[in-house]
Amino acid sequence: MSTAWSPLVADAIDQVEALMAQSLSSQVPLLHHAAGLVVSAGGKRLRPTVLLLSQRAVGGGDVPFAVRLAAAVEMVHTASLVHDDINDRSDLRRGQPAVRTRWGDAAALLVGDFVFVRLLGLVAEAGVEAIQLLAQACGALVEGETLQLLSTWDASLTAERYLEIIGQKTAVLLATCAELGALTAGAAIDERKALHAYGYHLGLAYQIRDDTLDLIGDRERMGKPNASDLDQGLLSLPALHALRMRPELASCVRERNPEPLKAAIRETGGVEEATTAARVQAEAAAAALAPLPPSAARDELERLARWAAERER
Ligand code: FPP
Ligand code: MG
Repeated sequence: MSTAWSPLVADAIDQVEALMAQSLSSQVPLLHHAAGLVVSAGGKRLRPTVLLLSQRAVGGGDVPFAVRLAAAVEMVHTASLVHDDINDRSDLRRGQPAVRTRWGDAAALLVGDFVFVRLLGLVAEAGVEAIQLLAQACGALVEGETLQLLSTWDASLTAERYLEIIGQKTAVLLATCAELGALTAGAAIDERKALHAYGYHLGLAYQIRDDTLDLIGDRERMGKPNASDLDQGLLSLPALHALRMRPELASCVRERNPEPLKAAIRETGGVEEATTAARVQAEAAAAALAPLPPSAARDELERLARWAAERER
């Protein structure tokens, strides 16, 4: 049975699942087993869903083409999570032991590489434009992750800079998913731009909420560890708000002591501040869809944006 987020694209999501599994077969049992596990382990399929709904929202088009691209973007995302768990020293992903927990960091590096490399076969015939969009998104992903690494324990980080970093790390790929959907439908440039903007704001809402859930979320429900970002010096909106209200806590950041900051987040309403910011981005995403004709797919995209800001997992 399909676990698709939207019934409109449930069949296509099933095809995405099958295509990913097929693309990740290998003669090397470790790669075959580990890559198979990570793609089948309960991801939300947010990126394929955005791509497929975007195609429908601008009139539909070549569904098999969109399915291939949807599998490719989900594989970019999955590969990046396998690598991210190495960087974050995280033991749990999607409710399962992370690849690094089962097989170690060195093997996890290779499994991530394998998932990433195999998507090239999927996009080989996608055309120059789609490949260029995908290449730019992958570049932004790695750049964003690198900027985040360089900003750990940085008491001078601002909310604006944080939004730029998560924009690169998360929002560009979602913007690209929406734009690729439009591309596969042969949409006009203003519709492509509208969907790109939608995906970007959706990505910001999603990541602001993700970083907030890291502070308040439930480990079981989230399927990944929580309260780990601050311990690693990653400052997101709740912490940046607390720092703005209590500038004297900058010294704790420099001394790598997150505990006073955790208390200050509670006392200054940092979580509420971040929740509002996520909602602002969700509304901006919904507003970006205005140039598109009314349709069930457009309604689903709107619903998805609001869910991104409110979700509990
Ligand atoms: C999750 O963020 C991580 C990302 C969105 C990007 C990670 C990118 C890399 C590690 C670069 C490698 C890229 C490729 C394509 C192989 P998070 O840590 O905030 O989320 P989490 O709470 O789910 O871990
Ligand atoms: Mg992480």
